[in-house]
Amino acid sequence: MCGIVGHVGVTPSAPHLLTGLSHLEYRGYDSAGVALWHRGFVIEKVVGVVAPLKDKSLPLEATIGIGHTRWATHGLANQINAHPHQSIDGRVVVVHNGTIENYKELIDQYNLQSTLVSQTDTEVIALVLSLFLQQNDSMEQAFQRLMQELHGSYALVVMDELKPDTLYALKHRSPLLIGMNASEHVIVSDASALAESFQEFYILEDFEYAVVTASHAVIYNQLGNIITKEKYIPYQRSMDRSLGVYQHYMQKEIEEQPMVMRRLAKDFTVPKAVLEIFQNAPRIVIIASGTSYHAGLVGQYVLEDLLQKPVDVHLGSEFAYYPPIQVPNSVYVFLSQSGETMDSIRALERLQTQNVTTVSLTNAEHSTLARTTTHHLYLHAGVEVAVASTKAYTAQIAAMTLVAAELAGIDIRKELANVALAMEDVISRSSVLHQKVTQWMNQQRSAFFIGRGVDYALAQEAALKLKEVSYIQAEGFAAAELKHGTIALMEKDTPVIAILTDSRGHLTRSNIEEVQAREARGILLVSESNAQSTDDFIVPQVLPILQPLVMAVPLQYIAYFAALDLGHSIDKPRNLAKSVTVE
Ligand code: M6R
Repeated sequence: MCGIVGHVGVTPSAPHLLTGLSHLEYRGYDSAGVALWHRGFVIEKVVGVVAPLKDKSLPLEATIGIGHTRWATHGLANQINAHPHQSIDGRVVVVHNGTIENYKELIDQYNLQSTLVSQTDTEVIALVLSLFLQQNDSMEQAFQRLMQELHGSYALVVMDELKPDTLYALKHRSPLLIGMNASEHVIVSDASALAESFQEFYILEDFEYAVVTASHAVIYNQLGNIITKEKYIPYQRSMDRSLGVYQHYMQKEIEEQPMVMRRLAKDFTVPKAVLEIFQNAPRIVIIASGTSYHAGLVGQYVLEDLLQKPVDVHLGSEFAYYPPIQVPNSVYVFLSQSGETMDSIRALERLQTQNVTTVSLTNAEHSTLARTTTHHLYLHAGVEVAVASTKAYTAQIAAMTLVAAELAGIDIRKELANVALAMEDVISRSSVLHQKVTQWMNQQRSAFFIGRGVDYALAQEAALKLKEVSYIQAEGFAAAELKHGTIALMEKDTPVIAILTDSRGHLTRSNIEEVQAREARGILLVSESNAQSTDDFIVPQVLPILQPLVMAVPLQYIAYFAALDLGHSIDKPRNLAKSVTVE
């Protein structure tokens, strides 16, 4: 959530800031801004996406600057609340990711109310910092004091008018990395921001801070001691993030899923130690949020089927504050595309006090969850740019299935090739599906997805996807549950999309009859072995435990085509951000 880019070097900073911000835009796109130093601070801000910043006359003489793209947490998405924020004395400018929980207390404590210009917690940081500097603290000393004062999460990059060749960075519970070349440094909240031009990064840990010039990056620990760090080279730098022939990243990423399946079949490895953990654990507990939670629900069916041991799935946000009673020696599995979801990180922090074994599956190999869990498995989905997750979701399901199959002694790697072919078959029929979606969703305010068993898990994700990009109110239900209340919402032509990939769920057909009897529009998406000739869309049959992977594709297309017909901003839906780093 929100993106940070800072640059200091010998070449113009503005192009680096603009490139980095546009790559990070999918993490927040309410507003954007930059501050450059050229005989003084030059600050420009825009509401909405980053592109209009390019039209501002940014000084090319400036070889130091910071930039930010925002997902609003405090205050409206307007120019005043956009970052960077400058202290009232003009001395410091600050960009910030995260949330300061005690910002109101700080306003009272330092008597800042009358000086505040914006509604943000970030401006409070700028003001408190400048107060410390006015008391003759060095920036390093001021950071030491700031760490005592700020409660919450913060990745901060700061410029000081008295040291206009230096960037300062401070990190707690929100990622921050320093990238380097021979004569320049960048500070970014995600390596993907500038991974094409910067191949080596230092990852800051909590309460570490850094003083960064064109030629040096000096990193300090919480005690103020200089520390040395290993460099990290991001795997994803070689991944293609161009849009190519596609109109939207969401479509591109839906259609990359066959490639991801093949890649996982080839490259996904599970260390012996991890297999043993799963083998010996009496219970598997999956923790995740949003789409990853829905992947976990599918994983629950697959793991229970193949391993015959209990699997629970929890939302990170609930687990963190209302943890269920735990079974000793359980293994805790964190599913996350970004590896930075704060709700899941909080749940992990809670577990860390209990000395339990944790395994993360993320699509970001050096993310917080990847680094903090006992073991990490990498998802190999490639960069996912669209805010609505598609290929990372199926990669999570496939990865869990590979773990389960390996433990059950079944080789499904070849079967994943069949999944890829089946997905390609669906993709080849996408224009036919588009015509159907146009008919089904025509001017509808709401839609329902129903299924039983694993198809219920798929239904929940299908509904989330439709909501995210088309803004049509949608819910996923256990098919039999409709008649217990929700059937009251059925109106003429309300789309009720039934998913049937598991023959045990055949009664879903009766539930469709029931809604059709109320003039709703019953739609059946089925796998070949469950198909009848009148069904609306049939996907090729694959090994039953892998069937959810294939069915995921038409469900994602339904959301995509509905949003396309409505002319929405598909890759950057309103109010959302790719990586949700606040609670
Ligand atoms: O990065 P994560 O997988 O942990 O993110 C969890 C959710 O925020 C994420 O899946 C969200 O629901 C997406 N917008 C789904 O499309």
